[in-house]
Amino acid sequence: MKALILSGGKGTRLRPLTYTRAKQLIPVANKPTLFYGLESIAAAGVRDIGIIVGETRDEVMAAVGDGSHFGVQVTYIDQPEPRGLAHAVQTAQNFLGQEPFIMYLGDNILRDGVKPFVEAYHAKQPDALILLTQVDKPELFGNAVLNPDGSIRALEEKPKQPKSNLALVGVYLFTAKVHAAIARIRPSGRNELEITDAISQMITDGCRVESHRVAGWWKDTGNAEDLLSANRVVLERLQGHIQGQAEDAVKIEGPVSIGPGSIVRRTVLRGPLVIGQGCVIEDCFIGPFTSVDDKCLLSHCEIEHSIVMKHCQIKQVGQRIENSIFGEHSVVQGQMQLPRSHCFVVGDRSQISLSQS
Ligand code: TTP
Repeated sequence: MKALILSGGKGTRLRPLTYTRAKQLIPVANKPTLFYGLESIAAAGVRDIGIIVGETRDEVMAAVGDGSHFGVQVTYIDQPEPRGLAHAVQTAQNFLGQEPFIMYLGDNILRDGVKPFVEAYHAKQPDALILLTQVDKPELFGNAVLNPDGSIRALEEKPKQPKSNLALVGVYLFTAKVHAAIARIRPSGRNELEITDAISQMITDGCRVESHRVAGWWKDTGNAEDLLSANRVVLERLQGHIQGQAEDAVKIEGPVSIGPGSIVRRTVLRGPLVIGQGCVIEDCFIGPFTSVDDKCLLSHCEIEHSIVMKHCQIKQVGQRIENSIFGEHSVVQGQMQLPRSHCFVVGDRSQISLSQS
């Protein structure tokens, strides 16, 4: 069995972060999202992994290398344009050959990884195995309707009136039969080759398309809200580990990790939260579900339920910061002088929400 991780795409919903960075390398609990997928595929015993890359190929290649760090062998496959998930599979056809493969969307995280899914495939030996989960708003997802035996009867992309509460998760297992199905589908209204259309084609062609339910949570980090939510659920399982120095009136509650070389002074740390390496944190409140990555400087501020990427500085901010994401090298600094004005230098498509007092 091989694996195909999709790490191309446009990432428009995560702008401005994706103007300067691959969406799949945005950190969740200080680890790039893509690494969760790579690690779970390696843990399932699949070693031969193709990674679909697009405009951000150099960055992805620099982060993952040849895969040896993860105990796998990685082949990079260039998708000249992001023309859909099924198009990505078509682009990888030479790499995939006649082998079954697990297809994993590089911006997804599954709590329990993919091992149970791979085991279910070996037990059932279907032509395709589709991972499903129950959701509250099925109209926002690819929706599946099952036959009484659990096989898939029909799929619908974001239906206005969903026929079930089952959504497709960003992980699929296919035999080589999927290639013939992809060759027969046409681009959708948004001009993409849709994987849901390819699966529907497999069903029409009489293939055995089975379903498998996700046991733990599943997170797609496609937009800011989902990214913060993924950060929260990953941190919920954090086991605290203090390697840096917590000195001078630091109060630690709940699971807290402080990376080597970081110094924390006169601060309340209320976990779960993670602080990377080489940070300086003084006179702060860092609240639950916050990830502060390497080399950040935080002073006289309160922050919770947020992601702070590397090399950020947040100083003298009067009001608590929450539900926020700071890209690398961001600076947020309170002003003591008059006039009491806000002063911004923000990139394209940034979002700022100010609480009025
Ligand atoms: P999406 O989140 O569906 O698409 P996107 O990354 O272009 O994002 P947006 O909708 O915000 O513009 O993609 C899911 C995953 O698949 C993601 O990791 C990117 C990857 N992908 C490809 O590699 N090739 C493609 O052609 C597409 C559409 C996505």
